[in-house]
Amino acid sequence: MYSTVLALHSLFRWFVLISLCYAIYRAYSGYVNKYEFSMLDNKVRHWTATIAHIQLILGILVYIKSPIIQYYFSDFKNLISDWDFTFFGLIHFALMISAVVIITIGSAKAKRKKTDPEKFKTILVTYAIALFIIFIAIPWPFSPLANRPYIRPF
Ligand code: HEM
Repeated sequence: MYSTVLALHSLFRWFVLISLCYAIYRAYSGYVNKYEFSMLDNKVRHWTATIAHIQLILGILVYIKSPIIQYYFSDFKNLISDWDFTFFGLIHFALMISAVVIITIGSAKAKRKKTDPEKFKTILVTYAIALFIIFIAIPWPFSPLANRPYIRPF
């Protein structure tokens, strides 16, 4: 169970990143070129937030099942000073939840905005902030914070 959910969580990052980049590109292009906020723009807004929510659920499942997290909380006082444990136990968790909250707020606010430029701008700003946070909090093989592979086999 744990290894399957971890592999899914690892794979799903790519959907999160691709959908965010595409949504940001469409929002930027729509805002700058004063396009109409189309049905497709609305679907992209919605699906980007949904993909982020699925990744959040996978992350929570990984968090509950992870032997790293279980060990971390079994000896929290000593391990809080160990960066590798604290990264996944607190930092990754807090940054990713913040990013998903920002996406959720951005998506909901954009939906309620009255004009098309306002919709594009809200998506552009909130999704770009979230993408920045997510990019930093992913344990890339090149990250100075923590390292995991690009793809984890099932
Ligand atoms: C957009 C949101 C997120 C992205 C893109 C993301 C991405 C990743 C990636 C790429 C890994 C490395 C997977 C591997 O070892 O191959 C990872 C690990 C992990 N993630 Fe996330 N994550 C997100 C949200 C969350 C959330 C919200 C939680 C907790 C509630 C979480 C908990 C964890 C844990 C505990 C690990 C390490 C598991 C272990 O090695 O035992 N993630 N995450």
